[in-house]
Parts: sequence; structure tokens; C-alpha cells
Amino acid sequence: MKIDILTIFPEMFNDFIGTSIMKRGIQKNIIDINVVNIRNFSRDKHKKADDYPYGGGPGMVMTPQPIYDAYQSIEKIDIKAPCIYLTPQGEHFNQNLAEELSQYPQVIFLCGHYEGVDQRIIDKIVTHEVSLGDYVLTGGELPAMVIIDCLSRLLPGMLGNENSATEDSISSGLLEFPQYTRPYEFLDQKVPEVLLSGNHEEIRKWRRGEALLKTKMRRPDLFNKLNLNKEDRILLSK
Ligand code: ADE
Repeated sequence: MKIDILTIFPEMFNDFIGTSIMKRGIQKNIIDINVVNIRNFSRDKHKKADDYPYGGGPGMVMTPQPIYDAYQSIEKIDIKAPCIYLTPQGEHFNQNLAEELSQYPQVIFLCGHYEGVDQRIIDKIVTHEVSLGDYVLTGGELPAMVIIDCLSRLLPGMLGNENSATEDSISSGLLEFPQYTRPYEFLDQKVPEVLLSGNHEEIRKWRRGEALLKTKMRRPDLFNKLNLNKEDRILLSK
């Protein structure tokens, strides 16, 4: 997958690209990340990329010309490549959208700042306006990294264990069951006996029961969408 990021703070992506799983994904040619500095496309002699809003009001608005030229400079390997504008005004990001985006060979991100970008840029190039949640960040760079992290781990070969992404419980509408590792006893707390039993069927049932219970308590919105089978109802009644 080719990922292009339009930003006025390209240096924010250095550690993100150069570390851990993302770095390995790039080395393995699973993902190609191209960070484009919008300011380099400004025709202003001071490389300005923002201006006062028409109609007045606080803050600055990102001007359309440098963004448009930066967008045009991107090599399009897919003419249908979605262009994601990160903004608190957007639809909320979730696993379904990550899965949808991970199907494209190319995804473009536009990171906004200040009071946002000129509406004509949104109308011309943006296909999705996406928000991480109902809170306001200083810019779209961190949300872009969150989304790129989330969708890249869905790409085949990105994670060491091929099953780990598809088995994510959130994809199936459930929260995760609790996990334990060594030592067996920590601060007077022991690992649940069933996990040491070696009985895979009992372990599966215990995990399913814990995941169902946690989802019911913490996320009734998700729980109410589940299609519970007979075994689930028995596990929940215990
Ligand atoms: N930019 C500023 N705040 C944001 C948010 N909550 N989600 C996405 N982009 C943003």
C-alpha cells in the first residue's frame, strides 16, 4: 500500500516511520510512506500556507493553492485513491473504516491545522472527512498516524503472526478476554486455573465467557448488537 501524507509538519512522522512495525513494513515493501511538505508548494516568498478567514473570526485557515499543488505532485497509482482529511467535523474512525481503507492500493492523508482548510480543497480533493473522536487536537498529524497504524496492521505480512489482526475481538464486536503471562503468582494473585489445565475447549469457553461479560459491562452498545448463541447464554448465566 502506498500512503501519502500532506502536512506542514513532516518531521512529526520521522520516528513513526523509523520505528518498530512500521519500519519493518517499509523494509519489507508492504507499505510505502511518502510525506509531502505542503509548504514546499507555497508560491509565497515566505512559504506561507495560511491566511485570515474571509468574514472574520479567530485563527487562520490553510490556503488552497499549496495543498492542491502538493496533492497534484503525488504519484497516483490508483485514480480512486481515497483522500482522508483529518478533522473533528468528520465521521468517527472505527475498525470498519480501517478495514475498508486497507483494501485500497493507495490512501492519501491531508493533515489540517488552525481553523482548518479552505472549503474548496475539501470539495475538490477530499473523499472522506474523518475524526478520531469528540475532542480537538492541534492538528491532523497524530490522527493520521493513528489511522495509518491501524490500517497497516491489517495488511498481509505486516504482523509477525498472520492471525493476530483477523482474530482481534473488536472486529467481531467483542472486547478482549484478559491475558496472563508468567509468573504464575504476582502480588498474591494467581493465574486462573483453567489456563493451566491444557484443556483447549475449556480455555476457549472461559475466554469467550470473559469477553462476553466484559463487553456487556463496559460496552452495552456493542453487546446489544451481538447474535448470542446457546453457549453464549449459558456462559453469561454462570
Ligand atoms: N484534528 C483536530 N482534532 C481532530 C480530531 N479529533 N480528529 C481528527 N482530526 C483532528
